[in-house]
Amino acid sequence: MSAVALIPPPLSLYVHIPWCVRKCPYCDFNSHGQKGALPVDAYVDALVADLEQDLPLVWGRTVHSVFFGGGTPSLFPPEAIGRILDAAAARLRFAPAAEITLETNPGTAEHGRFEGYRAAGVNRLSFGIQSFDDGCLARLGRIHDSAEAEAAVRLAQAAGFDDINLDLMYALPGQDLTMAGRDLERAFALEPAHISHYQLTLEPNTLFFARPPAGIPEDDAAWAMQEHCQALLAAHGYVQYETSAYARAGRQCAHNLNYWRYGDYLGIGAGAHGKISQGSDGSILRRWKHRHPSTYLRDAASPARIGGDEAIAPEARPFEYVLNALRLVEGFDLGDFERRTGLSRAAIAAPLAAALARGYVERDGGRIRPTELGRRFSNDAMTLFL
Ligand SMILES: C[S@@+](CC[C@H](N)C(=O)[O-])C[C@H]1O[C@@H](n2cnc3c(N)ncnc32)[C@H](O)[C@@H]1O
Ligand code: SF4
Repeated sequence: MSAVALIPPPLSLYVHIPWCVRKCPYCDFNSHGQKGALPVDAYVDALVADLEQDLPLVWGRTVHSVFFGGGTPSLFPPEAIGRILDAAAARLRFAPAAEITLETNPGTAEHGRFEGYRAAGVNRLSFGIQSFDDGCLARLGRIHDSAEAEAAVRLAQAAGFDDINLDLMYALPGQDLTMAGRDLERAFALEPAHISHYQLTLEPNTLFFARPPAGIPEDDAAWAMQEHCQALLAAHGYVQYETSAYARAGRQCAHNLNYWRYGDYLGIGAGAHGKISQGSDGSILRRWKHRHPSTYLRDAASPARIGGDEAIAPEARPFEYVLNALRLVEGFDLGDFERRTGLSRAAIAAPLAAALARGYVERDGGRIRPTELGRRFSNDAMTLFL
């Protein structure tokens, strides 16, 4: 495979907090129901030790975004989040306007918390709302009702947060098209800058997968919901920029965009994944940490914290790149493909021709964009690049 110079892309930092009040029956994230008091201080120490050891991978590079994901990062008090950010800022160069997001479960919103997160440096909140229908929320095993969700978002706004994402899911048990639209109307009333709109999927290793709940909409009904909701989102000024992501002008999530554009990220915390490119030798490293919180806590101060290191072979890069980039409405630029994979565009000439011939993508100079057909059959389109 012919090579070109690999230019390290922008760098992000992902911080995983692996606990939730209670595990939701549809969720396969690395999250564990809380049993008793959380070892907050020990976990913050572990994160700092983990970061410290990963620093040689990113010497001299600037961090453009930080994302506290989970799990439920809002289970950690503002002081803990502040300690993590201070430790990161003391060891890494942050871009002046770095986006710093914290995932928040509305069931954990306490008075004064949001002011604390802002003071700690968080400038974007992502709320796990899922639905504003109390019946749907109960069937999803959520720890909050819709009134609590609305109150939490308003508390955050009163604390000065204007960069807010709401996560919603559709194709829920017992949900029809009208209900899915009503969820969005309730979201619009809160005027978030960003809405993530996910189709509920039955993930292996979840309770829902083992015993699917009654009333999950069939594929055609789910597709109709998606089209209806896309139209509603567009009519309210939320522009789709990725399969499940919609934003007001200029309010896309910089952190997630960096993933989808095959950017680099350090991942610290239990089960966190990182991807780091080295311009010096053209290598791309994937590194992940032990998943279980207790193993991670035990090993965080040593190389034993690493669950695995894997060099991404040049042959694997085209599929990895396209798997991300074809999720984006903007698609990708062939020059960017070359800089970020270290491969010549010739490496994808054949699958690209096939995708063009099938109408999955369109080409405009060096830019490749998925068509509506390509977005609907994205798995087929991506498989061409395997
Ligand atoms: C890590 S959670 C975010 C925040 C927080 N843990 C919460 O749930 O309130 C990320 C988001 O992924 C979505 N999600 C989780 N499991 C899903 C599934 N099985 N199908 C579709 N979306 C899912 C939910 O919208 C969820 O808010
Ligand atoms: S959906 Fe969110 S709150 Fe529920 S288990 Fe998953 S990470 Fe935790």
